[in-house]
Amino acid sequence: MARCFCRWRVMLICMCMPCILLVLLVAYANVMLCAVMYKTVELPSLHFVAPGTLNNKSFGPLPQTFWDFGQHGDAIWNRLQLTVDRYFNPILRPNDTRAGLENGTIHESPTEAGVLTKLDSVGENLHQLPQQIQDFVKHMHRRDYPTLIQPDGVCGAGEKDEREAPLLLLAIKSTELGFKNRQAIRQTWGRAGWVAGQGGSATGGGGGGGYIRRVFLLGNAVGDSSESLQMESKHHGDILQLDFRDTFFNLTLKDVLFWSWFSRSCNRTVFVLKGDDDVFVNTPKMITYLQDQLRKPQAHKIIEDFMIGDVIIAALPSQERKSKYFIPGSFYKGIYPVYAGGGGVVYSGLLTRRLHHMSKRVHLFPIDDVYVGMCMTRLNVQLVHHPAFLTFGFPTETEEKQPCSYHTILLVHKRSPSQLVKLWAEMKMTQAQCRDATLRKCETFTTKTFRPSKVC
Ligand SMILES: *[C@@H]1O[C@H](CO)[C@@H](O)[C@H](O)[C@H]1NC(C)=O
Ligand SMILES: *[C@@H]1O[C@H](CO)[C@@H](O)[C@H](O)[C@H]1NC(C)=O
Ligand SMILES: *[C@@H]1O[C@H](CO)[C@@H](O)[C@H](O)[C@H]1NC(C)=O
Ligand SMILES: *[C@@H]1O[C@H](CO)[C@@H](O)[C@H](O)[C@H]1NC(C)=O
Ligand SMILES: *[C@@H]1O[C@H](CO)[C@@H](O)[C@H](O)[C@H]1NC(C)=O
Repeated sequence: MARCFCRWRVMLICMCMPCILLVLLVAYANVMLCAVMYKTVELPSLHFVAPGTLNNKSFGPLPQTFWDFGQHGDAIWNRLQLTVDRYFNPILRPNDTRAGLENGTIHESPTEAGVLTKLDSVGENLHQLPQQIQDFVKHMHRRDYPTLIQPDGVCGAGEKDEREAPLLLLAIKSTELGFKNRQAIRQTWGRAGWVAGQGGSATGGGGGGGYIRRVFLLGNAVGDSSESLQMESKHHGDILQLDFRDTFFNLTLKDVLFWSWFSRSCNRTVFVLKGDDDVFVNTPKMITYLQDQLRKPQAHKIIEDFMIGDVIIAALPSQERKSKYFIPGSFYKGIYPVYAGGGGVVYSGLLTRRLHHMSKRVHLFPIDDVYVGMCMTRLNVQLVHHPAFLTFGFPTETEEKQPCSYHTILLVHKRSPSQLVKLWAEMKMTQAQCRDATLRKCETFTTKTFRPSKVC
């Protein structure tokens, strides 16, 4: 009896097992099919989300996308960038990506050339754009401009008698006509060599100082490098002149070519201050601030990602045709990435090298500080806002009139050459009186652009 029962059981199992498995398989296939179909329906609403934009630790509401992959595909810049991204996509082209990482640039990619020739077909639209955009589009694929004047030192002027690696390189964007600005900077906050710090951190450090180097970044205004500029370079050795037209929309080239020069020439410099030639910098305080960063416990990690300035969030391209910032929708669509106001910003030498590599994969964009933001977004590095960077001047006149106001800032934009000289003299005079002035602190913003809600 028991044997019979056993046989029945075996037979039952033998017959039913395939059926059960078949049912399970069908059910699984159904579920998968539904999931795939559901996803396909969802897909068009997915946006490209730039890495880094969603980090929500210290910023207020952030834009979720900085360019929309589906809808903005027809704008010239977005289309070009999409091609470049596809070209370097490690999933789509594993082999080429590795090649690109080594020494390729976007110009060497065949697809890129294809898109650039296709641009001719939008020629009609191009004629309707303002002249400076047309100029930009015609030359935006080119970056290999020759150097006309090199600075004296390996990494800018001021390398004499250095006993340690330079702490800070001042890289100032200037023009051939900006001689007065350069002179004022050389005599005041931009002196190269050893500079003492001022005003300690909370821990009472602050002593010490650091070595400073200086370089002015110039394009070419007149055609040939002028004689007076040659003389100036002979005398001061702090000019880096590149052979492209020195226009507003070519300023991005100054960043990109500066990064390239820096990566070749400055392997020891710890920090870079990139500013315009009409900013005032509180150099002693800046030195102390930077040395405080180097003393932090996780200093190495901090330095790798270090960029600090006046951070602007969720800005939109200017739509005013008359503005010098005008960017038509047919050229770029989307909001700008988080970026630091270009008047003055400080970043580390390590980050400069990474920006140099990343810039090979980001198409030139006419607004220089936005371009830096685009590269930062792609590096997934977060900018740090500091209220002592005043790229739009002091918020109120009363604050500026305070006796020690200039001792509370690191950088302020815009000041004329004569103002620089006057301010520097005043700073020296009030040094003892303002010894205890601390840097500007967190504040709540009521400005038009969104700013970080929590800062410093
Ligand atoms: C960031 O956090 C705040 C509050 O915690 C929230 O309201 C906001 O939506 C968040 N932003 C993003 C982009 O997630
Ligand atoms: C990619 O590289 C591997 C080995 O390096 C090679 O075997 C493969 O054929 C390459 N693929 C393409 C598409 O070139
Ligand atoms: C990189 O450049 C070197 C010399 O310029 C060249 O020999 C090498 O093939 C290049 N590598 C790639 C992957 O293109
Ligand atoms: C940038 O410089 C190049 C080279 O001199 C020039 O051909 C081009 O027109 C300039 N671009 C703009 C937007 O001025
Ligand atoms: C930095 O560059 C100099 C000369 O270009 C070279 O002698 C030195 O070894 C380099 N240092 C490092 C750490 O790469």
